[in-house]
Amino acid sequence: MFYDPRSDEHGLPHNPWTALVTPRPIGWISSRDADGTPNLAPYSFFNAVAGRPPMVMFSSTPRKHSLNNIEATGEFAVNVATWDLREAMNLSSATVEADIDEFRLTGLTTAPCRNIGAPRVAESPISIECTLYQAIPLVPKSGLECSTTLVIGEVVGIHIADAAINEGRVDTTRIRPLARLGYMDYSVTDSVFEMLRPNPDVALAEARRKGWIDAAG
Ligand SMILES: Cc1cc2nc3c(=O)[nH]c(=O)nc-3n(C[C@H](O)[C@H](O)[C@H](O)COP(=O)(O)O)c2cc1C
Repeated sequence: MFYDPRSDEHGLPHNPWTALVTPRPIGWISSRDADGTPNLAPYSFFNAVAGRPPMVMFSSTPRKHSLNNIEATGEFAVNVATWDLREAMNLSSATVEADIDEFRLTGLTTAPCRNIGAPRVAESPISIECTLYQAIPLVPKSGLECSTTLVIGEVVGIHIADAAINEGRVDTTRIRPLARLGYMDYSVTDSVFEMLRPNPDVALAEARRKGWIDAAG
């Protein structure tokens, strides 16, 4: 099947879009409002977008408390949602009033950040402290209506639980991070495999041997 989201209907009973780019990591965003009330919510339109220096992004549709807080204070933390924390992560997505502290709603514990004032999730093995780099309202060239704001964060602090480190490397199977699939589906990373980057000379020689590229190619 093919459809053009600018004009075509997909023709399926449910919008397939969120099932197409998967698994999406979940940025569990902690922030606080101008009065200091903590806020916590999961965002799966989320990713790391740069490494040196590290930067992250997530998007809010429409404007929500996290975005309001981040614009008001200029900072937020990203916490990794794990298999063990799945119920709390889901509960923290409940649409509640701004004055409700989702840490208390979910029974989670706040831990202080070092370089920002927003709290982090004490139970999470990884927390990433960020300052707001830019909040960009998306305006599609197609003219389609859009209420999405892209939030880009510059990383200013990184917490890694000692228990997540094995022989000097962060062990993803110890963290068991959750990821979002389509619809109401999730996945959890329980196993990993390693694959080294190709040696270009070996890759070219192999492709020539198989006849995929000619000798001059
Ligand atoms: C796994 C998961 C991923 C979510 N991803 C997003 C997202 O990428 N963007 C968004 O606007 N809302 C997303 N939501 C919904 C928000 O978490 C929800 O609207 C929440 O109440 C927002 O809280 P806030 O107003 O405190 O920021 C997601 C919910 C769940 C459970």
